[in-house]
Parts: sequence; C-alpha cells; structure tokens
Amino acid sequence: WNYQLTHFVLSAPDIRHLPSDTGIEVAFAGRSNAGKSSALNTLTNQKGLARTSKTPGRTQLINLFEVAEDKRLVDLPGYGYAEVPEEVKIKWQRALGEYLQKRNSLKGLVVLMDIRHPLKDLDQQMVHWAVASNIEVMILLTKADKLASGARKAQLNMVREAATAFGGNIEIEAFSSLKKIGVDKLRQKLDSWYND
Ligand code: GTP
Ligand code: MG
Repeated sequence: WNYQLTHFVLSAPDIRHLPSDTGIEVAFAGRSNAGKSSALNTLTNQKGLARTSKTPGRTQLINLFEVAEDKRLVDLPGYGYAEVPEEVKIKWQRALGEYLQKRNSLKGLVVLMDIRHPLKDLDQQMVHWAVASNIEVMILLTKADKLASGARKAQLNMVREAATAFGGNIEIEAFSSLKKIGVDKLRQKLDSWYND
C-alpha cells in the first residue's frame, strides 16, 4: 500500500464517535512521548500528518487516518504520563480500553517503546491484553538513533527474549523517525495485516 496517500479523517474522544467498524484498522499505542505520532509521519512521509510534541500527552484523542478505502491507521493517546490531572488520565484510559476491547476492525497493534526504557508495566499490560484478544502485535523500539549500534542490538535482543513470555508471534524491531531506521519493516508488517 502507498502510505504516502494516507489522509486524516477525524479525531474522536471515544469510540462512539468513530466511523463504522468495517475493514481493517491498525493502531499505534505506547507511553506518552514514545514517538507514536512521529512514527506515523515517518511512515507516511508527511511531516504534519499526526501532531508531535516535546510535551508528553500531546495526543489526547483517538486520531484516525485512512490509507485507502477500509484501511485505517489510528494514533492513540499515550499512556503512563504522570503529570496530567487524574481526571484526564482516567478519561484517556477509559477511551483506550474501550477502543481496544470493542473495535472489531482492529487487526494489529503497533506498540512503541523508547529503546532506552522498554517494557514498562503498562507496555507489558498492553501487549498481554492484545495477545489475549487475538490482536496481532508489532513492537517498535523507538528513538534507536539515541543508542550506538552495539547498545541498540543488546536492547533489541533483551526485548526479543523477554517477549517470548507474551506468547503469540510478535515481531520486534528497532525504529527511528530521525534516522529512518525500521521504516521498511513497519511497512511490510502493515502490508501483511492489510492484505490478510
Ligand atoms: P504523545 O502523543 O504525547 O503520546 O507522544 P507521541 O508518542 O506521539 O510522541 P511524539 O511523536 O510526539 O514524539 C515525542 C518526542 O520525541 C518529540 O520531541 C519527537 O521529536 C521525539 N522523537 C520522536 N521520534 C524520535 C526519533 O526517532 N528519534 C529522536 N531522537 N527523537 C524522536
Ligand atoms: Mg502523539
């Protein structure tokens, strides 16, 4: 699929505001600031498609994009950011949980984690939950440009070993929006999900 043709459809506060639940959807999830919106922009080669920010918690809505008819990408609100008000946090978590549990067209989940501190509790919960719900998972270790290649490989191996505990068939790759690392692997995975 030509990801450069991806366009924004809408932002929704909860699943009731999403378009009809048909076709195939792939969502990007991860802690606040993990690089989800940046990864979407890199994938689609569009700088301003998904809004990015130095401030964690930028994406507070379910942002939905269309790659082609009935093939969508979703930028989910980040989890785990301590500084947001409790009330707001609860709202996001509810929207996130609801989306993951009820969205039938959700075929694959790309879970993004900063390569320097992957597999935090909420990341593990997210992956466990997806595997249990028969949603396919790809893990991207983001900001790989921040590590030298030896350290990068070590982190990749560590996460690959740890991830065997999740079961399922989870592909794990290093990724960098800055240095365009792992972009082809991501594209191939999305193609495989959309073509299924
Ligand atoms: P929320 O929407 O708050 O959940 O964050 P997000 O996961 O969408 O993160 P976002 O893409 O907005 O990026 C957060 C910060 O990390 C920004 O300052 C980005 O410039 C930076 N960043 C993202 N990807 C990379 C990368 O590959 N390398 C480096 N060095 N920085 C990155
Ligand atoms: Mg974002």
